[in-house]
Amino acid sequence: AESLRVGIAGLGTVGASVVRVLTEKAAELTRQCGRTITVTAVSARSRDKDRGIDLSSVSWFENPVDLARSNEIDVFIELIGGDEGAARESVKAALEAGRHVVTANKALLAKHGVALAEIAEKKGVLLNYEAAVAGGIPVIKTMREAMAGNSVNRVFGILNGTCNYILTRMEAEGLSFEACLKDAQRLGYAEADPTFDIEGNDTAHKLAILTSLAFGHRIAADDIYLEGISNITQADIRAAAELGYRIKLLGVAQRTESGIEQRVHPTMVPTASVIAQVHGVTNAVAIETDILGELLLSGPGAGGNATASAVVGDIADIAKSRPGFQHGPVFGRPAKELKPYKKAQ
Ligand code: NDP
Ligand code: HSE
Repeated sequence: AESLRVGIAGLGTVGASVVRVLTEKAAELTRQCGRTITVTAVSARSRDKDRGIDLSSVSWFENPVDLARSNEIDVFIELIGGDEGAARESVKAALEAGRHVVTANKALLAKHGVALAEIAEKKGVLLNYEAAVAGGIPVIKTMREAMAGNSVNRVFGILNGTCNYILTRMEAEGLSFEACLKDAQRLGYAEADPTFDIEGNDTAHKLAILTSLAFGHRIAADDIYLEGISNITQADIRAAAELGYRIKLLGVAQRTESGIEQRVHPTMVPTASVIAQVHGVTNAVAIETDILGELLLSGPGAGGNATASAVVGDIADIAKSRPGFQHGPVFGRPAKELKPYKKAQ
């Protein structure tokens, strides 16, 4: 089979890691997919930056929208970030041009995911987004494919690596909030604007995507009760510990009689509970259903390698798919059939 030609827009923490993994794991990926995967074109803001990757044989596009429409690619990978501008325009352009798309951009999906899914489904191409929720944890495929037929009652978890890293180090090492946030930024865990992490918006974006998959309604990120961790002090953490609790930033969505309840806020969890043992950049997602019962997935929630693992998995799925194959819907059921969101009273 011919090589799958990949175009990558955004070469920061995640984009550079994806190029590295595709290069270092080329032989293994070829064996698994039955064809080679080749990065043929890229786009980023600065052409001069040393990213520690070899770009000598790839085409460079100043504008990611031009890359998205280019005939040099079969798949467009969006790793720019943001819910408007270059990210939204390039993903839309790629889908409209009939290209498969892979993105890690939860902010974009939380706002425009359903509209983008409608284009992908109309064009018969894939819009894959495993990396957008809980980094390297394969929660999207688990909920969308492996749990078919289950009715979800509740989904909740630790969905932001930066916040869990900050809370863990504040408790374990007595460090200040600011020092921990700086380290999370240095390690590539935080968003370009870390307010999205610490004020809970990033958790809300991910929760909104999970809620849509769980309950089959349109994504409703703006309806989520939101409280972040920026006001949590050492005194709060010590007081919780004295009572036998840890503070975790949780995203929770559950079915109620009056509709769906979605909330994000710091929560005191008993020190002996499983969720309290989730430390550092690790994320955890708990899903409660009628057939399966209780499922808990945990693993690396942010950072270059963990996120690249999920992005490369999405690219490999596309490499394995064959022309003419009918792809499943992006959010588990056809975008046009997603129910209107009904908020719990
Ligand atoms: P970075 O800020 O490290 O990288 C962003 C990249 O986008 C940079 O290479 C930048 O170029 C490029 N870029 C910005 N604007 C444009 C533009 N207009 N045209 C072309 N390129 C542009 O972000 P991350 O790699 O951390 O995150 C990327 C995406 O992945 C985001 O959506 C984020 O939410 C998501 N994500 C991140 C995770 C993480 O752990 N970091 C985990 C899961 C998801 P330049 O380098 O030249 O400035
Ligand atoms: N900033 C995000 C986090 C990246 O810390 O979880 C992963 O989505």
